[in-house]
Amino acid sequence: MPTVTRPADFVAWFRSVAPYINSFRGKTFVIAFGGEMVADGKFVELTHDFNLLAALGIRLVLVHGARPQIEQHLARMNLEDSYHQGIRLTDAVTMQCVKEAVGRVRVEIEALLSMGLANSPMANADIRVAGGNFITAQPMGVINGVDLQHTGCVRKVDVAALNDRMEFGEVVLLSPLGYSPTGEVFNLTLEDVATATAIALDADKLVFLMDVDGVMDKKGVLLKELTIVQATAELSANRKLPDDVSLFLPCAVRACEAGVARTHLISRHTDGAILHELFSSEGIGTMIVESTLNTLRDASIEDVGGILQLLIPLEEQGILVRRNRELLEREIERFVVLEHDHRIVGCAALYPFPDEAEAELACLAVDPQYRDRGYGEAIMNHMTALAKSQKLKKLFVLTTRTAHWFLERGFKESDTSELPSQKKALYNYQRKSKVFVKKI
Ligand code: ARG
Repeated sequence: MPTVTRPADFVAWFRSVAPYINSFRGKTFVIAFGGEMVADGKFVELTHDFNLLAALGIRLVLVHGARPQIEQHLARMNLEDSYHQGIRLTDAVTMQCVKEAVGRVRVEIEALLSMGLANSPMANADIRVAGGNFITAQPMGVINGVDLQHTGCVRKVDVAALNDRMEFGEVVLLSPLGYSPTGEVFNLTLEDVATATAIALDADKLVFLMDVDGVMDKKGVLLKELTIVQATAELSANRKLPDDVSLFLPCAVRACEAGVARTHLISRHTDGAILHELFSSEGIGTMIVESTLNTLRDASIEDVGGILQLLIPLEEQGILVRRNRELLEREIERFVVLEHDHRIVGCAALYPFPDEAEAELACLAVDPQYRDRGYGEAIMNHMTALAKSQKLKKLFVLTTRTAHWFLERGFKESDTSELPSQKKALYNYQRKSKVFVKKI
C-alpha cells in the first residue's frame, strides 16, 4: 500500500477532489483503450481506476480494441494483414481471426473486472459487466474500387438498451464489432464505436487512452486544452502528428461538435493517468472542449472565498499588501474575476478617482498554476476598457515586486507626489511601493 507522507496532505488532497466527486455522480463517461492495454499486462491497474469511477456513481461505457491480438492471430495463421488507405480490409478468413481475437480480449477484460481480492483496490468491487448487440453496423463498402468486405462503421447505437444496463449499475463493455439487420458481423474501429456511442448517449466525457501524453505543439510542449477551433487548426497545420493523435483528435472534434462536453486524450503508459486527468483541475493530457472555459466577469459576494484563496499566498510572499477582509467584502463590486472551468484563477479591482480622471488598478493577481497564458493581460485590458468607459484618462498601480510586468505593458514610473490627493493620504510609506502610470 502506498503511504501518503503527511496526514494533513492526505486530508487536503482528499477534500480537493470533493467537487469532482459531486459533479461526476450520475454522469456518463465513455472510455476507449486499445488492445495493447491488455497485451502489455497493464490492464490490472486500469481496472482499479475503472472500479473507482464506477464506485463514485459514474455511468461507464468501456470500449476496447484488439488490434495487436488480431495481428498476432493473423500471423499465427500465416495470413497477411491487408490495409487499403489505412483501413483494414476484412475478408472472410480475417473476420474469423477478428472474432476470435476480440472474443479472447473481451474474456480477459471481463475476468479482470471481476477481481475482488481482499486487500486489493478491487475488494468488494462487485462490478457487473454488460455486453450485447448494442451496435448496429453497416459495411464501409467499396472505396476507390476496393471492397472492404467485412470492415464496417457504426450505423446505430441502441441508446435505450445501454441506458437500461447503466440504470442497473452495470458497466457496459463494448467490443469493436457490430451486427447488421441481415445477421452479419462487421469489424469496426474502437474510435468509431467510442465516438458514435458517446454522441448517441450524449455523454459528458469521452476519454481515449493513447500511446503519447497528449497533443503537443510544434516545440513538443503539451497542449492541455484545445477548443474545437484550435484542435481543427492543429489537424490542418502541415505537420506530422503521432499516429494516435491523428486517429483520436478528429474523433474528439467530432464528439465535441455533436455535444459531448469534454474529450480527453491521455497516455496509456502513465499509471493512473485517468484519475489524474479527471480529479485535478490541470489534468495530465489534452482536453478538447467546444469553446473556451474562461469567463471574465464582475465579482459578487459569493466570490470572496475564491478571491481570498488567490490573494493569501501572494500576501504571504509580500507581493500584495494584506487586505482587510471586511473591506474586501464591502468593496467586492470593484472587483472582476477570471474564472477557468468554474474556478477563480485571476482577479483585479478598479478604484476610480473621478476628480483627477484617474483610476487605481489594484490587486491584480493570477493563480501561479495559470501563469503564462495571458490571463493577467486579459484582466488588465478589461480594466483599461472599464476605466475608459468611465471617461478616465490614466491608470496607476502601486507595486513593490512586479514593476517589470507593468513596464513591459506601457506603464511609466511616476512619483507618489503625482498620486490623487485622496490616495496620497493613504499611501503606506513603509511599504515603499513604486507608482506606475499609464495614459489610456
Ligand atoms: N478534471 C477536470 C475534468 O475532468 C479538468 C481536466 C483538465 N484537463 C486538461 N487536460 N486540461 O473535466
